[in-house]
Amino acid sequence: MQPSIGTPDSPATGKDNTAVVDRLIHRSTDTGDQTESIMEEFHKVRRLPPYVFEQVNRLKASARAAGADIIDLGMGNPDLPTPQAIVDKLCEVVQDPRTHRYSTSRGIPGLRKAQARYYERRFGVKLNPETQVVATLGSKEGFANMAQAITAPGDVILCPNPTYPIHAFGFIMSGGVIRSMTVKPDDSFFHSLERAVRHSIPKPIALILNYPSNPTAHTASLDFYKDVVAFARKHEIIILSDLAYAELYYDDIRPPSVLQVPGAIDVAVEFTSMSKTFSMPGWRMGFAVGNERLIAALSRVKSYLDYGAFTPIQVAASMALNSDGSDIEIVRNTYKRRRDVMVESFTNAGWAVPSPEATMFAWAPLPERFREIGSLEFSKLLIERADVAVAPGVGFGEYGDEFVRIALVENEHRIRQAARNIKRFLASSDENMQNVVQLDTRR
Ligand SMILES: Cc1ncc(COP(=O)(O)O)c(C=O)c1O
Repeated sequence: MQPSIGTPDSPATGKDNTAVVDRLIHRSTDTGDQTESIMEEFHKVRRLPPYVFEQVNRLKASARAAGADIIDLGMGNPDLPTPQAIVDKLCEVVQDPRTHRYSTSRGIPGLRKAQARYYERRFGVKLNPETQVVATLGSKEGFANMAQAITAPGDVILCPNPTYPIHAFGFIMSGGVIRSMTVKPDDSFFHSLERAVRHSIPKPIALILNYPSNPTAHTASLDFYKDVVAFARKHEIIILSDLAYAELYYDDIRPPSVLQVPGAIDVAVEFTSMSKTFSMPGWRMGFAVGNERLIAALSRVKSYLDYGAFTPIQVAASMALNSDGSDIEIVRNTYKRRRDVMVESFTNAGWAVPSPEATMFAWAPLPERFREIGSLEFSKLLIERADVAVAPGVGFGEYGDEFVRIALVENEHRIRQAARNIKRFLASSDENMQNVVQLDTRR
């Protein structure tokens, strides 16, 4: 049974309770533009541009307020419920008052052991749970605090572009300087790596890898990792690998871990997340594993900042990691079916979207005739004219501006509906582009 949540003005029972939770979750706390301009005086905040996605979110909210049924393929926020056994475990453990105390910042021993076992089972990588594993409050927190731990002002970091924003902004907040790298894991990657090391002053301290990639869905092979590790060892560069989509792969090629490369542990740390793998995004549970010195640095910073996730969450997460993987299979198959429906229906609608091999995203080039307006304006048009929200590629970096990211976070029926809406929208723009794109938004 669900625990009940009551407030003074509402009984904590059944249907009413659902309404209360709904209200609590959805009530806006918007503080307005004035706060924005006051905040901009702060040194760190000035380095954080307003989220591009915010513009799309605002438009989405006002379209919804006006009664539109927006199909939301924008945010990478999994819509699938956490498997019931994991939820049940949380409910059981939370009954024990001993679990209500502060937990441990780097994660309870059972959780770190479970993560080490997962790495051994899945990648054949042996880790010492005492020194090479730390639990994080989602992988995003782990990544940002690793940046905090290792960056001195002005340090140069090599970062993919386009990429998940925390990869760059975690370091920018820590005083680092970003040099953009291509995402495609081919020869061009190594050319830009060579150039970066030759021309950056000071020499880069770290290289960020993210395969399977958010947002591009590029995947990397073990051979690619071997070459990157050899390069990093030679030039004494730290590798930070974000493997958040380790388990969302569709074509029987399982994404490898950079730690499978012999000697990688000397230079690399890898981040994984329970958010996508087990549909646990709100639980905030992730991990950093790998090089002992780096893990110790992250643990030290965390020990000053947090007391670890709520113990019942850690216990339930341990159970999930120790399980047989059938829950992961269900999640993977759901996204795979959605991917297939999306690629087929969008392509039939006149928008050829490449089929992603992994992640929960498609990285779709703007239809030819919309290239000149860029990804943000195109995304706004899709909301206004097709009732479909996507993420503008420019929100992931300037080199993403000819693309939008389509997240597979609505069911197959809704994805088909999105395709029908888009078909109508494209047909109307065929008839008369002037109808669709105002002249002043063209570049
Ligand atoms: C590449 C990548 N890394 C990290 C994260 C954050 O994951 P978590 O929920 O574990 O913080 C995401 C979430 O979308 C992601 O796409």
